[in-house]
Amino acid sequence: MRGKLITLEGPEGAGKTVLAKRLVEELVRRGHRVRSTREPGGTRLGERLRAILLEAGGGAEARVDPRADALLFNAARAQLVSEVMEPALEAGEVVICARFTDSTLAYQGFGAGLPIDELRAIAALATGGLAPDRTILLDVPPEVGLRRKTDASRNRFEASFDLAFHERVRAGFLELARQEPARFRVVDSNRRLDVVAPEVIAAAIEILG
Ligand code: TYD
Repeated sequence: MRGKLITLEGPEGAGKTVLAKRLVEELVRRGHRVRSTREPGGTRLGERLRAILLEAGGGAEARVDPRADALLFNAARAQLVSEVMEPALEAGEVVICARFTDSTLAYQGFGAGLPIDELRAIAALATGGLAPDRTILLDVPPEVGLRRKTDASRNRFEASFDLAFHERVRAGFLELARQEPARFRVVDSNRRLDVVAPEVIAAAIEILG
């Protein structure tokens, strides 16, 4: 039987990394075979693109055109889908991925203003049409999420995009969730980890049986 793809999404500082870890541990404990990965990254090419995409600093001349962002995030995505995700799903594994296509729609679309339908077309090419079975949106106000990061740990998006951008990203994620209520579960991640984690686990278990 083909495996399931579960993605974790959300604005900066929503806790994707730690919650993905908790989720993987719980699913393994329940006997699932789990493959955990992240975007951008998860492959040799993807991790090299990640370093380029997330490097902060460099001043005004380092500004990246949102179209270049959209194409590079999708280049990393194409490699991840073909090298890691499809083989794992074929083998019947549960694939947990921190960020996926919805991040491009939220950041480069709702955030940076590129047309959503064009971004969907690029992502369709990159993924071969692969869509998550379940997307868990970890919702947090950007001012709270950004405060969870120290200056030194801020990536390019955290360091050089203003609060209004991050507000549009958050609203964009919530709009995507509204459009696809069957796929999305929204979890309020502006609470303690030990109350958020069980809700994330429940949202995954719901589709795994
Ligand atoms: P993330 O892995 O969430 O960061 P950290 O490990 O620093 O918490 O960072 C990925 C960044 O890339 C985040 O700022 C969102 C951005 N991003 C996009 O703009 N578009 C995309 O398609 C993806 C996957 C990420």
